[in-house]
Amino acid sequence: MSIRTIGILTGGGDCPGLNAAIRAVVRKAAAYGISVLGVHNGWLGLIQDEIALLNRYSISGILPRGGTIIGTSRINPFDSKEYLQRIRDNWHKYGMQALIVVGGDGTLSAATRMWRDEGYPVVGIPKTIDNDLRGTDYTFGFDTAVDVATSAIDRLHTTAESHHRVMVVEVMGRHTGWIAAASAIAGGADIALVPEVPFRISKVCEILKRRREMGKTFSIVVVAEDARPHPSEDFLTPEQRNQIYKHERLGGIGQLVANKIELLTQIQARVTVLGYVQRGGTPTPFDRILASRFGIHAVELVVEGKFGQMVAIQGSKITHVPLEYAVSGPKLLSEEFYRSAECFFG
Ligand code: F6P
Repeated sequence: MSIRTIGILTGGGDCPGLNAAIRAVVRKAAAYGISVLGVHNGWLGLIQDEIALLNRYSISGILPRGGTIIGTSRINPFDSKEYLQRIRDNWHKYGMQALIVVGGDGTLSAATRMWRDEGYPVVGIPKTIDNDLRGTDYTFGFDTAVDVATSAIDRLHTTAESHHRVMVVEVMGRHTGWIAAASAIAGGADIALVPEVPFRISKVCEILKRRREMGKTFSIVVVAEDARPHPSEDFLTPEQRNQIYKHERLGGIGQLVANKIELLTQIQARVTVLGYVQRGGTPTPFDRILASRFGIHAVELVVEGKFGQMVAIQGSKITHVPLEYAVSGPKLLSEEFYRSAECFFG
């Protein structure tokens, strides 16, 4: 059966590069004579019948734009039987023959079930600033987030130096420390705290004090939003732990680390939470290129009838892996990558 009509949706947290991927899918599909329907606001568009044709004009000028022109949400189709029924109705109404799902672990987990349990012909494209999907060396969005965090660290250096302070920078990354470790290396941070390696606050303070003794009057500490103290030196109250480690909204550990540093070292500490700035704005050339290559390969997989796959980059090669593998658990920071960041601690 030749494919004439496919859909595309973007789900989960937005990230730079989504529009580049949408553009690539529409352009490549057009070359095969395939029409692309933009499903608005993630799975919600299929549930609520918010679907519109994307053409050369609707994708014009979107390559450098952040966000996603078709919107996003974190709605899970498996939250209700009614959702699944409405999706089936709208799928048939529009005559969709395949769906390209652009998402992170949440959205692609749902895509995996749509393929495996519900029989939908689905292809995934990995996007997230967190870079935490298995089977791909990079997700698009990550490079831009690291770029933003690195520029922030560069700027914090000068004010930290003038005031002789410790600057704590809290970055995103969900349950992995990719953004923290990468921006620490690129920005020349003096310590990076990541979820994969529980930290001892006494060790952190020791490093900061040693720097002072060496004549370095300022320091930069990068803290991933899910970094946790080692159980042997846990200084968080149960309330604080409940407040900052919510899966759906992490954040707040940076301030608590800064408070503790001030208390234990008597050095002034300030905190900067980078937050959503890391996800906003224009994608780097790397992310634009990666998202474009992913979009093209996703359409090729659709045409070849290779469903249940996620496009990926391994080394410099664009390839694909089973969706099921991609979402089988977070891709944690590699030992080598962490050791590289650690080499510059102190
Ligand atoms: O997964 C991307 C991400 O930006 C994480 O780094 C962060 O923890 C989370 O999304 C924030 O989610 P929300 O947009 O729902 O606040």
